[in-house]
Amino acid sequence: MKNIILFASGAGSNVQAIIDYFEGKNTVKPVAIVCNKPEAGVLQIAQKYQIPVEMIDKQSFSSDEFMNKLNTYSPDLLVLAGFLWKIPAILVQKYPGKIINIHPALLPNFGGKGMYGMHVHNAVIAQKEPESGITIHYVNEHYDEGNIIVQAHCKIEPSDTPEDLAHKIHHLEHFYFPKAIEFLLK
Ligand code: GAR
Repeated sequence: MKNIILFASGAGSNVQAIIDYFEGKNTVKPVAIVCNKPEAGVLQIAQKYQIPVEMIDKQSFSSDEFMNKLNTYSPDLLVLAGFLWKIPAILVQKYPGKIINIHPALLPNFGGKGMYGMHVHNAVIAQKEPESGITIHYVNEHYDEGNIIVQAHCKIEPSDTPEDLAHKIHHLEHFYFPKAIEFLLK
């Protein structure tokens, strides 16, 4: 069994997809959820599946205490699933090649600070792009710049709204993210 820690501060639909995919498989176990938003929907998912939650703020995020806490879960992979803060260098150094992120666009386009969630889809539609997609990549000290593991594309129709695109992107994410985690931990 491999342990993953999920970092999430949004609705948690990717966390749900990951839990569903590995449920009953005995291969990968979400052992904790790290969250920085007390009102995040993902916390209800954590409660439902009784997954321990580690709440953080900007200060505790890079503290020794938090590093030690993560260590107690013996994680094989740290998975950012809708997590918006930059990962502190100390964490990147502690888990080299063991932190991955999902981004709702085709990096290097539409990435970087402030590019998250609907901001990304609004920008993609505003630029009349013919396609978008998802990027699963390793995390380094810079936003959205680590090596790419996999990308998947979707077509954008001229009539698509940012919400339509968000829907297509979530669909791709829920399909590919659990499989990418499984592949990396094999
Ligand atoms: C996902 O679409 C993910 O790609 C995005 O946040 C959403 C979270 O949705 N992440 C970023 O924008 C990171 N820059 P969820 O909470 O329903 O999984």
